[in-house]
Amino acid sequence: MADNTYRPGLEGIIAAETALSYLDVEHEQIVIRGYDLIELATKVDYLQVAYLLLSGHLPTAQEYETFSQQLQAFQNTPQEIYRIMGSLGEHVHLMDSLRTALSALATFDPKLDTRDQNNTWRQSLMLLATMPVIVANSYHIKNHQPVIAPDPQLSYSANFLKMITGKVPDDTEIRAFDQLLTVYSEHEMPNSTFTAIVIASTLSDMYGALVGAVASLKGTLHGGANEAVMKMLLEMKTPQQVEPYLAEKLARKERIMGFGHRVYMKKSDPRALLMKESLKQLVAIKGHADLYEMCVKGEEVMQREKGLFPNLDYYAAPVYYLLDVPIDLYTPIFFAARTAGLVAHVREQYEHNRLFRPRVLYTGPRGLHP
Ligand SMILES: CC(C)(COP(=O)(O)OP(=O)(O)OC[C@H]1O[C@@H](n2cnc3c(N)ncnc32)[C@H](O)[C@@H]1OP(=O)(O)O)[C@@H](O)C(=O)NCCC(=O)NCCS
Repeated sequence: MADNTYRPGLEGIIAAETALSYLDVEHEQIVIRGYDLIELATKVDYLQVAYLLLSGHLPTAQEYETFSQQLQAFQNTPQEIYRIMGSLGEHVHLMDSLRTALSALATFDPKLDTRDQNNTWRQSLMLLATMPVIVANSYHIKNHQPVIAPDPQLSYSANFLKMITGKVPDDTEIRAFDQLLTVYSEHEMPNSTFTAIVIASTLSDMYGALVGAVASLKGTLHGGANEAVMKMLLEMKTPQQVEPYLAEKLARKERIMGFGHRVYMKKSDPRALLMKESLKQLVAIKGHADLYEMCVKGEEVMQREKGLFPNLDYYAAPVYYLLDVPIDLYTPIFFAARTAGLVAHVREQYEHNRLFRPRVLYTGPRGLHP
């Protein structure tokens, strides 16, 4: 079938069929297997959403129990992975550390290239279980601190946060972190998910598909924005500085991180609204009212000056900050959370595979001779 339509960045092009999720911009809803993501984030936990993405339904109590136990059994990360991460030097970006660890992890999978449903289910669980351990400890290893082992007494999200900060989190912190993981869990067809399914469509392995997705997510136009947002907020220092700071950047035609979105663009990102609420609740307990004020001010300025709304990364960044998560880990945690969506997309791709192989609009010369 020949179709000469070309849109840079494939903007607005339907590139895949999926039963996993859909951004219903008109109704300002993120549909996850029929459910509204924001409602899921307020009523169930991250693991339930991960199960939903993988299986197509929310788990029963028994299924949830089994799922949690299976994940716990998979948490043991080979020591060799830690050694490899430790050899990367202290200037390594933690997304590069994650990319390398994930790539190395593939070599420990005895059934790396088996793509039947049982095996890809096992691999999905393995990746979901290992990702928090690798991500949290990438920070400790980089900073020459001892690794923190998973705590089997804690829930998935509580354990993840504890491995990052070294402290057992309280209920408010667990809830905020779990919500953050949930809203990051899946988002239709961003660049990283597209990368993963393009790789999977060659029938390459699941780890390889995710390694590609890590590289994609690192970019500041994608997942890397959350780290950039926090650095910007820290540079601004006070609510009074927000307006002049942004005005100067906009005058230089710079992009303000945490604003705009290819799909929502001039509409609100529902996830950002939930994170804004979460930030407000954390501030009420932990203080840092200035941080909330700065964010709200920034939102006002960007809406007035550019007609742009904040995306998830804008409000996720200060939430991470109040949870004492080091900035270097913001994007790797985004990836760890997105693992649920990614493995579900890769499995879906395997099950209904068609190799991605598009054509181009050729703009080079022709008819030349050496
Ligand atoms: C996400 C993003 C890459 C989407 O970009 P896109 O679909 O390619 O949109 P465009 O680059 O075509 O931008 C459209 C217009 O909005 C402006 N714009 C978009 N995002 C902007 C931002 N964050 N700051 C300032 N201006 C922005 C562009 O300059 C452009 O203006 P123009 O038409 O006057 O040139 C873009 O909004 C961005 O760079 N945001 C900051 C990074 C970020 O937060 N990423 C996380 C995404 S979840």
